[in-house]
Amino acid sequence: MLDIEADESSDGVNSWTGANRMKVRSLIVIALAALAIASLIYAARAVGGFSTRAEPTRVERLVARLARRWAVPARARQARNPVPFTPDTWAESREHFADHCATCHANDGSGRTSIGRNLYPKAPDMRLAATQDLTDGELYYIIVNGVRLSGMPAWGSGGDDDVDSWKCVHFIRHLGDLTPEHLKEMESLNPKSPAERQEEQDDERFLQGGDVEPSGAPAPHHVHKENP
Ligand code: HEC
Repeated sequence: MLDIEADESSDGVNSWTGANRMKVRSLIVIALAALAIASLIYAARAVGGFSTRAEPTRVERLVARLARRWAVPARARQARNPVPFTPDTWAESREHFADHCATCHANDGSGRTSIGRNLYPKAPDMRLAATQDLTDGELYYIIVNGVRLSGMPAWGSGGDDDVDSWKCVHFIRHLGDLTPEHLKEMESLNPKSPAERQEEQDDERFLQGGDVEPSGAPAPHHVHKENP
């Protein structure tokens, strides 16, 4: 409880002591902080609580995108891809993407995987203008630095010349050139759990007319295999 004592000053007028004034100020600060926290919790609940299943609101998307844009230094934005695009680069970039990136981004860059779709923010559909309008330098900077407060990790050795990351930039630019054969080949390179590998082998044996014994491998957590 607040204990405000009147203080008899030398001229006989009631005034608060300095200590009491400090107490009242502290109480006001604490009350305002509590109000701010309560408002934040209320706002968070109003926009879907803390669940990452929710879609980020337009305001969140705009603020996050602007903050990311401003965070990329102008020099990095203007950087040119030092790795020439050759048939070998194209093949290596597909392999690299299938192994490291497709878990969230999907082999076709659509972001349609169970992880990519349930992150907050979601893994974007990189075939769309929002990604394609970024410069090569911005794409590279995002790949080697990651994006804070999102599921996007930093890759490679950092710096300006991480060859695999520059190859990923080529891959993102050529998403429209992926053929069904490329996608099939990439699928075989996607990281898989032992249970998924076993399931694949079982399917293969079944198709060849063999008996399929139950593998005894742990059941996967729902069907997580959504890469095309
Ligand atoms: C664990 C999940 C995950 C993995 C793995 C991952 N990313 Fe991402 N990535 C994300 C998320 C989430 C975003 C969205 C970040 C944002 O909204 O700012 C993102 C954004 C990006 C962007 C920016 C596109 C845009 O329009 O916002 C690029 C480029 C990118 N990732 C490339 C890659 C590459 C290349 C790899 C592999 C080397 C990779 N990512 C691996 C989750 C992932």
